[in-house]
Amino acid sequence: MQIQANEIHSRSLASIRVKTGFISDVNFSGFPGFGTDSYAAVMRILSGIQPSGTLHLGNYFGMMRPAIELQNQGEAFYFIADYHSMTSLFDAEQRRQNTLNVALDFLACGLDPQRSVFFKQSDVPEVCELSWLLSTLTPMGLLERAHSFKDKSAKGIPINHGLFAYPVLMAADILIYDSNIVPVGQDQKQHVEMTRDIAIKFNEAYGQTFVIPEPQIRGDVAKVPGIDGEKMSKSYGNTIEIFGDEKTLRKKVMALKMDSRTPAEPKPDADKNLAIQLLKVIDANVGKEWEEKLRAGGLGYGDLKKKLFEVYWEHFSAARARRGELVANLDYVNKVLADGAAKARAKATEVLKRARKASGLE
Ligand code: TRP
Repeated sequence: MQIQANEIHSRSLASIRVKTGFISDVNFSGFPGFGTDSYAAVMRILSGIQPSGTLHLGNYFGMMRPAIELQNQGEAFYFIADYHSMTSLFDAEQRRQNTLNVALDFLACGLDPQRSVFFKQSDVPEVCELSWLLSTLTPMGLLERAHSFKDKSAKGIPINHGLFAYPVLMAADILIYDSNIVPVGQDQKQHVEMTRDIAIKFNEAYGQTFVIPEPQIRGDVAKVPGIDGEKMSKSYGNTIEIFGDEKTLRKKVMALKMDSRTPAEPKPDADKNLAIQLLKVIDANVGKEWEEKLRAGGLGYGDLKKKLFEVYWEHFSAARARRGELVANLDYVNKVLADGAAKARAKATEVLKRARKASGLE
């Protein structure tokens, strides 16, 4: 099907504003699905998460919770980026396990498969073909500027081609579903901007083919500190997991480093305290209340950390119970992923075909 550029343009003017609770309201002007006007009113939200290990509070507050909240705002596609994990994890069984764990964690935390399309990236192999098409329009210089690759390279980690091409596969992930908005952490913003560049290049070379996506960076929970005060991250080994053994996790929380001031002393810098910061992330009200207590003096660090553990453990208690049920029902979990894959694949096939036609493969 040939599409007139001006037709696309006039359709794209119909922008839709959606309240998201993010820094700015989304003002997206995705052009509707070609010839299928039913797409005009659907905002597609897409995000992925790597199955790189046990999920932690940084993943939860930075990515999972916002993603789960967004599932009411449009048609959400969420996937487990197992292809991407291959750039840095080389243990097959580990990948299988991590992938299942991410699925369990997400479903336990409230991802609703009735509302969102939840699937495994590699169940839609069409993204690999699209990745190839996009790679031919991706300048080397663009990839050389990617933080993801530069950071790893600077740390002396050997760079494979997959890692270098990581942003191209990510662009394919986003473009293949006509995604309008991509909720991600600050660290992924550059990748979404690259996706936009690549999509624009493709559209210029071969005619309007892809929706240009917008990154959505969450403003309020910008940074979850890890147990050492740095940003919580698997690669820094400073995480507090969402789920896990109670004793081990309690120990971790009780081992948070505090200074040597006595309990009686007032602490005018209470907002800088790590336990307070974590408490505020989990429950803003309790966090503020305890910040005042700490500031006033008379609160010992041991009691503060006990409170932090309690609030954290309680916060995930319903999710913990739900996760237990899911573990006992793996057939259900696998069915959710299979159903999600079927829906995602239908859309991916349609968009890939559009790209193949536009570029003269068909
Ligand atoms: N690179 C992302 C991360 O590590 C995961 C990811 C892969 C992703 N493909 C994506 C996120 C597409 C958003 C959209 O967090």
